[in-house]
Amino acid sequence: MNIPSLVMNDGTTLPALGFGTYPLKGSDATRSVSTAVDMGYRLIDSALNYENESDVGRAIAEADPQDAQLVVTTKLPGRDHGYDQTIRSFDGSLERLGRIDLYLIHWPNPRHGRYVDAWRAMVELQREGRVRSIGVSNFTERHLHEVAEATGVMPSVNQIELHPEFPQAALRGVHADLGVLTESWSPLGEGRTFADPAVAGPAAKYGRTPAQIVLRWHVQLDAVPLPKSSSAERQRENLDVFDFALTQAEMAAITGLGRPDGRLWGGDPETNEEM
Ligand SMILES: NC(=O)c1ccc[n+]([C@@H]2O[C@H](COP(=O)([O-])OP(=O)(O)OC[C@H]3O[C@@H](n4cnc5c(N)ncnc54)[C@H](OP(=O)(O)O)[C@@H]3O)[C@@H](O)[C@H]2O)c1
Repeated sequence: MNIPSLVMNDGTTLPALGFGTYPLKGSDATRSVSTAVDMGYRLIDSALNYENESDVGRAIAEADPQDAQLVVTTKLPGRDHGYDQTIRSFDGSLERLGRIDLYLIHWPNPRHGRYVDAWRAMVELQREGRVRSIGVSNFTERHLHEVAEATGVMPSVNQIELHPEFPQAALRGVHADLGVLTESWSPLGEGRTFADPAVAGPAAKYGRTPAQIVLRWHVQLDAVPLPKSSSAERQRENLDVFDFALTQAEMAAITGLGRPDGRLWGGDPETNEEM
């Protein structure tokens, strides 16, 4: 399966759809990532806090660890914010994963106020050529401006909660203006909208599953969904969204399912604490 790609603000590319690895662990994680990579997924999303970097690294080592198309992603936890701590945390993650192509700050933790120092270290890691691309996760517009003003480097990616009940129109608009690519976490939104006519209607019309309709909606928003599945069958289903298109009206109807209280969990990045 050939996945289209998007160009990032650092000139490199990002597959238009990736594979989420939370809460996979141990041999389940290794097996799931192996089947995903065999099937054609090239963007793999891990995090130090998922406690699966070694398991994901094993799958990468067993595939083709030099594959130039692979984008192995991991994330810096809140407890490791700060300049020196970030470099040390990166070294540990690299050891476990074998390669890191995209490194993200997992949450800003604004009360602790150390994400700018973490970002300075990430900029340095990229300058030294130790990581190809750098970005953030769960950042608001304010946090994006702050790290860019401090370093002159805008994150390439902001990975945010995004699904039909929480479509994040305002933040997606900010990303478009700033040249930041959007990655969508929990892209299927726990399937809460699967029975809604806005999703079930196009599913019947195109002969697709509701999950495929929702993932196609992300792709047409230029938001990179990171669906997780431990089943090879659903992994394949989730990848198979590049040979049909939703109309503008169908896209708008799905976006119209958004609700102010549509967040699933994780909470507001201004107040959430992730260490
Ligand atoms: N940056 C952050 O703060 C953050 C937060 C949360 C998540 N994430 C990332 O985002 C990834 C995805 O988020 P997520 O795992 O919460 O949500 P998700 O990928 O939207 O949903 C995963 C759930 O949907 C099921 N599923 C997968 N494909 C399906 C299909 N085709 N039809 C029906 N059900 C399907 C999975 O079950 P099966 O496994 O049984 O198929 C699993 O229960 C995570 O794995 C992680 O990498 C990042």
